[in-house]
Amino acid sequence: MAESVREVTTVAIIGAGPAGLTLANLLCRSGVDCMVLERQSRSYIESRQRAGVLDRRAGRMFAEWGLADQVLEGTSAYGTLEIRTDGEPRYLDVPALAGGQHSWLLTQQVLVRRLLGALEDGKADLRMEADVEVMCDLDGDQPMVRYRDRAGDIHEVRCDYVAGCDGFHGASRRSVPAGALTTYTYDHGVGWITVLAEAPPPRHPLMAISRHGYAAQFPRGAHASRYYLQCPVGDGVASWPDEKVWCQLRLRLGDEALPDGVIVERAAVEMRSFVVDPMSYGRLFLVGDAAHLITPLGGKGMNLALGDADVLARALCAAVLRGDDALLRAYSSTCLRRIWNYQEFSRWMTEMVHDAGDASGCGPFRRELARARLARLFDSPPAATAFATLLSGVD
Ligand code: APR
Repeated sequence: MAESVREVTTVAIIGAGPAGLTLANLLCRSGVDCMVLERQSRSYIESRQRAGVLDRRAGRMFAEWGLADQVLEGTSAYGTLEIRTDGEPRYLDVPALAGGQHSWLLTQQVLVRRLLGALEDGKADLRMEADVEVMCDLDGDQPMVRYRDRAGDIHEVRCDYVAGCDGFHGASRRSVPAGALTTYTYDHGVGWITVLAEAPPPRHPLMAISRHGYAAQFPRGAHASRYYLQCPVGDGVASWPDEKVWCQLRLRLGDEALPDGVIVERAAVEMRSFVVDPMSYGRLFLVGDAAHLITPLGGKGMNLALGDADVLARALCAAVLRGDDALLRAYSSTCLRRIWNYQEFSRWMTEMVHDAGDASGCGPFRRELARARLARLFDSPPAATAFATLLSGVD
């Protein structure tokens, strides 16, 4: 068997999703040596379509690190949110309610491309098709990460710190000894089908509530829309042929004239939440989906990942450049405060929009509660401000 290649770096970053690429950019800009290991090809991560909103807190974070031009240039503002109840539209001016600054309509694949471009400008050590198989000595001074490259050769990387940015199914969390982390999980008890279609985007991001169930439509550039439809738990994409998708969207959005288009992607979305505490073990720090999942309501998945990367980058800079590890010790508790705040927000929104279409025996009662919550957003300025502030992103 060929000998493995031995290498060293200061921070080994596992995964080149939004979390890993953001962290790598922030460290490179600060002069902290790092290596990014990503199991997929570049074209795969550049075209993976998931999140679509960058909140104003995340935008401010890129500005503070001097990356606003590369990341946000030419990006449309996310200002008004339309909430349609039984076909009746109402509008929330989210930035005005939240103190003036807007969020951005920036898809994950565009963010990933821009972050990759910024990393290349900085000549970062980025290794694609590098599949991390094992991590050891995480509780020692020099952890080791072993990965297999595309030719099948094994590399052993010694490092000072490991950033586990490898998503929910990655290797990092699995490398932590059993019992070291407390895991919280929650199944929200609703199903979702999402479709991406070449169909005109809505004027504003749109959420629609009706007794037929929840539906939403978000712009994806100038010529496409992403739609979301509440469905029974366990429904797969096979239960949602084109005709049913468009018929249900027209019904739930209250718009018989809603134009259809070619559906280019269709997926079932799992509506569950997950959090680990602490988000670290020894010199391993879990970032983004590796440490938590949240429902898409509120658009916080990607923004939480970016928030974690920001907190960890500041902490690693202090430890590596100034020998001060106080921020690293506070990493988990700092992130978890925001994560639980958003989990509560996302759960509250999940109940509000899905209960409005609840067809179960408890439906009529829950529907009225959901409508009261929604009405409060339009009748009570403090309630609207609280909603808009969380939607826009908090520290
Ligand atoms: N070795 C190397 N890379 C790995 C490994 C491994 N063993 N396992 C997973 N990866 C890579 C994946 O291929 C993926 O590119 O880690 C990356 C993880 O990226 P994401 O799953 O996008 O996770 P994260 O960066 O935390 O972003 C999370 O972004 O899409 C939004 O809302 C979504 O909440 C989500 C957020």
